[in-house]
Amino acid sequence: MDVKREISRTLRKLILGGTDLPQACDISLDHPQIEISVRLLGMGLTRDVTNSHSVACAVPFMFCIGLERSEINELVTGRYFTLEFRENRGRGNVLGIIKLKLQAILPVECHWIGLFRAVKCQNYCIPKYRLHAHRLLLRYNQCKGRRAGELQVSTLDAQCNAVTFICPRPVVLVCVVDGPRGNVFPMNLLGDLGGNYFAFALNSERQAASLVERLGRLTLSTVPLSKSLIVRELGKNHYLDLIPLEEVPFALQQSGGLDIPFPEFAIRIRELQVLEVLPLGSHNFFLAKTVRETINMSGQEFHMIHGFYAAHRNLSGTKRELITDDSGSGAKERVTDS
Ligand SMILES: Cc1cc2nc3c(=O)[nH]c(=O)nc-3n(C[C@H](O)[C@H](O)[C@H](O)COP(=O)(O)O)c2cc1C
Repeated sequence: MDVKREISRTLRKLILGGTDLPQACDISLDHPQIEISVRLLGMGLTRDVTNSHSVACAVPFMFCIGLERSEINELVTGRYFTLEFRENRGRGNVLGIIKLKLQAILPVECHWIGLFRAVKCQNYCIPKYRLHAHRLLLRYNQCKGRRAGELQVSTLDAQCNAVTFICPRPVVLVCVVDGPRGNVFPMNLLGDLGGNYFAFALNSERQAASLVERLGRLTLSTVPLSKSLIVRELGKNHYLDLIPLEEVPFALQQSGGLDIPFPEFAIRIRELQVLEVLPLGSHNFFLAKTVRETINMSGQEFHMIHGFYAAHRNLSGTKRELITDDSGSGAKERVTDS
């Protein structure tokens, strides 16, 4: 059995080389991240949307982007755009692009949000032959380990996820409360849309989505990388409704605005009021308004990047070492030289 495992491990190393990293790698960064910039291009428009976009749904893969008033008359639904992921250091290379179709323009109070659906995707983080090898391996694993009723992720959706996570995404802990009960779970499909508006995506099949929709108010806290294990473990709470808050494995404090708890080790706390919920596919898209933002302490924040970008990052500039645990649940970053 061990020999079989050893052979498969050696084969994997040969085929994937230095790109054999977990899909989701954990890193520590200052807020806001400045490694990667994201630009929206098309219909004569070139705009930096690094801090005004979010994933809206994973299957089909969709983005929401905060729009400027001046753009509303220029943008036409059904037209195509490009989302470009570019590194800010080194040569400023483009590391990935996602071609988007504008599906809808949604008015929100006195603001506008564009909903875009991904139609094509290119990843330049690792060589093409490695990308093909990963694609084949993913197909093989999907066929081997498919659970009954599980949603099938298309190749395009999986590729879009890899490109989206070229841009480091903060991992937050969400807290909701209803009397003495509540829930705490992690999220990383989220982002600012500009003008105090904020978006996030929750799997429509999990309890967490209906819970947030029902309660309509939440805190969202960034945390230090040192808490990554505890944060990942709380992923299972997406399946739960309200739980006694004493079961949460750390102390909670109370927010000043909406009076909702947040973890004692939170760095930045955002209190949100949900404005709208749209079912888009695998995920419900939540549009919210920031009621209050508080800094609880200073420090770098837990972010996630895709393994393809982590492999690229390992080879360029700062020498970083990603420590992967054998469970494959994630990799911890140790910066050895900057
Ligand atoms: C760090 C982290 C971030 C997550 N972010 C989201 C998210 O933004 N939206 C969502 O619907 N689920 C999110 N999840 C939930 C996972 O997709 C998954 O449903 C959960 O971890 C349970 O895992 P399982 O379905 O493999 O048992 C997140 C989980 C983790 C651990």
